[in-house]
Amino acid sequence: MTANHFVTGGTGFVGSNLILELLAERGTAVYALTRRSSRQSAEDRLQSALRHAARAAGYDDALDHAIAERCHAVEGDVLSENCGVTTGGLPRPDQFWHVAASLRYEERYAAEIFRTNVEGTRNALALARSSGVDRHFNYVSTAYVSGCRMGLIREEISSGQTPNNPYEASKIQAEGLVQQSLDLRPRIFRPSIVIGHSITRRVSSGFSGLYGFIKRVLRLRQLLDRIQDGLASRAGLRVIADPNALLNIIPVDVVARQLVRIGRSGSRATVFHITNPTPPPAVEVSRVIFRELDLPQPVMVSDSAGMNWIEQKVEEGLGFYKSYFRGTRVFERTNSDWTLGVSVPEPGYRMDSATVAEYVRWYADVLRGTTDLLPAAEAAAA
Ligand SMILES: NC(=O)c1ccc[n+]([C@@H]2O[C@H](COP(=O)([O-])OP(=O)(O)OC[C@H]3O[C@@H](n4cnc5c(N)ncnc54)[C@H](OP(=O)(O)O)[C@@H]3O)[C@@H](O)[C@H]2O)c1
Repeated sequence: MTANHFVTGGTGFVGSNLILELLAERGTAVYALTRRSSRQSAEDRLQSALRHAARAAGYDDALDHAIAERCHAVEGDVLSENCGVTTGGLPRPDQFWHVAASLRYEERYAAEIFRTNVEGTRNALALARSSGVDRHFNYVSTAYVSGCRMGLIREEISSGQTPNNPYEASKIQAEGLVQQSLDLRPRIFRPSIVIGHSITRRVSSGFSGLYGFIKRVLRLRQLLDRIQDGLASRAGLRVIADPNALLNIIPVDVVARQLVRIGRSGSRATVFHITNPTPPPAVEVSRVIFRELDLPQPVMVSDSAGMNWIEQKVEEGLGFYKSYFRGTRVFERTNSDWTLGVSVPEPGYRMDSATVAEYVRWYADVLRGTTDLLPAAEAAAA
């Protein structure tokens, strides 16, 4: 018997890896809400994104047949009512996965962020309902709906937290809509910062999170060198960081595997943290990034006292990413681990400095233009 899944965001980083994981099981068919572009049909965009994701994950052409035969684009847009889809010709999905979102976080994009992430979720819920989804509405949220809250972050719907930016605020609101849709037996998945594949270290699209931070550091370096030749290479800059902060990074294939395994389980829990139980110290990750970008090590300080104007400019320039280096959060994983039945630690959790360096080096090489970037990723990385 065929299990049908409906997925939004299938051309993106997490969604494409989720689809690959779903297709790995024979007899699964995937219908993916996809926008057309001015040059490509929805079907061509989806097929191309999935093939690139498969290459980044280290598959040769082994999965191409499954992608072509068992994955179908459904043209639409989460900004339209019912996502612009007439459900008549679609098979009833066993599960609905709402992954599409805007990953922008800047205040100037707030209207677009809320439209895509909140109204988009409302439209996805309507589509799931009209398609008669059988088992679950699975919503991919973020561990950072915790906002400014520190300490132990529970796998539960929380309220009263202060978001750091419009992205977090929009994901909090969207969780609220999903949670209320009890008729769809909702599940909320909260990944932390998603990075490349645990074996290949590569990414095929979507350079947010850690990659956005690496790019920001490189841009700041170029800016300093424009102000004065060689300025960036002189003595280490002072940067504000909490020595105890942990950077919760988790490989995309681990995320996709856990989503699908929990999706197929009979768990009655609603919220699942898809996070790394052994995250590396944020300060160590930033040391690796500075080293891989050939920058002198920053000097970590606790506040801005005595910073010169250049250091203040860098501090300002780090923007959203500053929150990565402040405070300590521990994400509970009781529901996830109980459902996954984890007894052996997942190898992809391992984030010692050498491992982190491999992820960072791959992207630093992409930014320097010394390694191939898959064509689908070029626009996102620019
Ligand atoms: N990446 C992370 O580190 C991370 C961490 C935690 C949670 N998450 C969550 O994971 C989900 C996926 O993130 P990602 O990293 O995969 O992002 P991504 O690579 O930027 O992909 C976003 C996806 O959403 C689609 N989309 C955006 N607006 C749409 C619209 N109006 N109609 C239809 N589709 C639309 C995009 O389609 P187009 O190709 O047409 O633009 C793309 O497929 C998001 O919900 C995000 O909040 C991500």
